[in-house]
Amino acid sequence: MSNLEQTLSIIKPDAVKRNLENEIKEIFRNKDFNIVNEKKIQLSKLEAEEFYKVHETKPFYDDLCAYLSSGPIVVMVLEKENAIVANRELMGATNPKDAKDGTIRKKYGISIDKNSVHGSDSIENAKIEIDFFFKN
Ligand code: CMP
Repeated sequence: MSNLEQTLSIIKPDAVKRNLENEIKEIFRNKDFNIVNEKKIQLSKLEAEEFYKVHETKPFYDDLCAYLSSGPIVVMVLEKENAIVANRELMGATNPKDAKDGTIRKKYGISIDKNSVHGSDSIENAKIEIDFFFKN
């Protein structure tokens, strides 16, 4: 049965700074993700705090939000069969040190903070995150 999904992907400041935007988009396209919406923006610290609100109790929250708002990012809506899980597999483990060969974070990630990409972790969060960037 078909299960076409959309997920929210972010190319983070470390990757945009290193001009990896096109290379990373090509990886998604080669894995049959359609980029159905995209924009390049820079978030304010407050907007980053709202985006990562699920992590607000974590010790790394403040650094995380400062980092996400530190430079331009590329936000994309990716569409594919089972896009949420497929994107998480393609990104690899949160910490690039633990990411498997062939994953985006293994190839480009610098550290657990500068891990080059973000992807929604569930259907529910994908909807929330897509609305956050693309509603209206
Ligand atoms: P991301 O998938 O964007 O979701 C939250 C981010 O927090 C995560 O990627 C990491 O870049 C960052 N982060 C920093 N420290 C940690 C940690 N100890 N555990 C999980 N995520 C962390």
